[in-house]
Amino acid sequence: MSKRNLVAGNWKMNGSLASNQALVQDLLAGIGQPGCDVAVCPPAVYVPQVQVLLAGSNAIELGAQDVSQHENGAFTGDVSATMLKDFGVRYAIVGHSERRQHQGETDVHVAIKVKRALAAGITPIVCVGETLREREEGMTEFIVKRQMSAVIHLNGHCISEIVVAYEPVWAIGTGQTASPEQAQSVHAVLRAQLRAATDHADRVRILYGGSMNAGNAAELLAQPDIDGGLIGGAALKAPDFLKIVAAAS
Ligand code: PGA
Repeated sequence: MSKRNLVAGNWKMNGSLASNQALVQDLLAGIGQPGCDVAVCPPAVYVPQVQVLLAGSNAIELGAQDVSQHENGAFTGDVSATMLKDFGVRYAIVGHSERRQHQGETDVHVAIKVKRALAAGITPIVCVGETLREREEGMTEFIVKRQMSAVIHLNGHCISEIVVAYEPVWAIGTGQTASPEQAQSVHAVLRAQLRAATDHADRVRILYGGSMNAGNAAELLAQPDIDGGLIGGAALKAPDFLKIVAAAS
C-alpha cells in the first residue's frame, strides 16, 4: 500500500516547559528524514511552545489533543479549531476514550468536532474503541461501527480527509496490547465501513493505539489495514518513540 504511515504521540496531560523542550530536542536530534509522517500532540497550553521548537523541521508536525465543538463565543475553557490552526496545528485528536469517559463526549459531539477541525483545515484523528466489557460481550464491531457512523453521517464525503485511530479502551495505558490479529480484524471492519461511505477509503489512514511500544510496533504495523500508531506512554520517551517511527518508516 502506497500511503505513508502516521505515528502520532499523544502526550496527554504530561509535560512542562523544560521537559517538552528536552523531549522535542531529543526527537529532532534522532529523527533524520523519517519514511512516515510524524506528529506530537502536547497539551493545548504548550502548543505555542512546541510550534516554536518544531519550527524549521519538516520531520515532525504539530497536533492537538482536542478541539471545541463550537466555533467561537461564550464557551469558557474551550479552544477552537481556528485558534489551533493559528498556531500551526496540523492534526487534532478527537473523541479520545478518556474524553468520552471523563468529559462525557458523545458520538454526536465527536462528529461535530470532526466537522470543526476539517473546516479549519486540521486533520482530525478520530478515536474509536470498545471497553473490555463490550469486547467480552461480543459488542466490539457494533461499538466501533456506531462510533464511526456518527462521524460519517455528519461529515459525508469529507470522511476521506480524516485519520481514524482504533484504540481498544482495555489496551490504553495498561500494557495489554491487542494482538496484531485482533487489531487487524477491527481495522478491516472500519475499512469496510469507510468503503461503503467513500470511494477514497483506501487513502484513509487507520492507526492502532493502546500500549503500542518499541517492542510490538513492527508486528502491528505489518498488518494490511494498520497505517500507523497513536502512541501514549511511549511517546514521552524519545528513544522509544523514535523506534516506533523507525518501525513505521
Ligand atoms: P498508550 O495510550 O499508548 O499509553 O496506551 C494510547 C492513547 O491513549 O492514545
